[in-house]
Amino acid sequence: MPRPRIVVTRRLPGAVEARLAAEFDAVLNPSDAPMPAAALTEAMRTADGLLPCVTDGLGAELIATPGRRAAIVANFGVGVNNIDLAAARAAGLVVTNTPGVLTDATADLALALTLAATRRLTETEAVLRRGGWDGFRPTGFLGMGLQGKTLGVVGMGRIGQATARRAALGFGMRIAYFNRSPVGPFDFPAEPLPSVEAVLAAADVVSLHIPGGDGNRGLISAGMLAAMKPTAYLVNTARGDIVDEAALAAALAEGRIAGAGLDVYAEEPTVHPALLAAPNVTLLPHIGSATLETRTAMGMLAVDNLAAHFAGRPCPSRVA
Ligand code: DGY
Repeated sequence: MPRPRIVVTRRLPGAVEARLAAEFDAVLNPSDAPMPAAALTEAMRTADGLLPCVTDGLGAELIATPGRRAAIVANFGVGVNNIDLAAARAAGLVVTNTPGVLTDATADLALALTLAATRRLTETEAVLRRGGWDGFRPTGFLGMGLQGKTLGVVGMGRIGQATARRAALGFGMRIAYFNRSPVGPFDFPAEPLPSVEAVLAAADVVSLHIPGGDGNRGLISAGMLAAMKPTAYLVNTARGDIVDEAALAAALAEGRIAGAGLDVYAEEPTVHPALLAAPNVTLLPHIGSATLETRTAMGMLAVDNLAAHFAGRPCPSRVA
């Protein structure tokens, strides 16, 4: 029997590509160039499965490709806001994601951004690099300590909990959180609050851990930002469209919040020009899960999903 043909839209870590080539008729992308919509349509028509990632938009139209042969989309990533899940369900297209394996790496980066923002790492390094540092001063470059401060977690799923655990047990922070459904107990102290706004008002650092897309788009609006303390910081390692970026840039410029740390953007790879111009924000290029170990584990889980599907077994992490 011929092996299932799998179109892989981007380069993946070597061990993952080797496994794909061993187990499937894998069409890899050695150039790593983002796949144009026409190529995705062609893949839908000619492949048995796709292994895409956040840079591939799989909207309703693509899913409705006439003569579609692909039966499964194994997304490389836990976030699936690049895929129209309702359209996939309606079309009987299986969609899987990669939860769990990137929890620690992403939580680590949320803490890295928390430290970068509160200790002014981007701003102070820029001063040094442009030759503007004239030596140690007792009152120079003062930031905010984390011990005893409140981390406000919006979305207490796996990554929210891992971030909160690090902040509570590693940095001595208090944790306040909002989650739509009841969660816990946890192995660290954490106080549930009744709304996102209540978390924003209570927090010294706000960390976002909710999905992007419909429902959460623009949630952190000008009004929500106004609920934050002027001394507080916003960290986003989830999805860029959760935040109104123009409103955030204005709040940063006007000192209505103290700073921010962002790893994700509404229109990647474009970054809002007002954010690029702001000194009090650390801007990273979507590297939350970017360790070799984690990206390999993500790829292997995507391949596990494909292997299970084509063997007629339940996929380990199916979302549609
Ligand atoms: C994820 O897993 O959702 C990462 O953000 C990459 O898409």
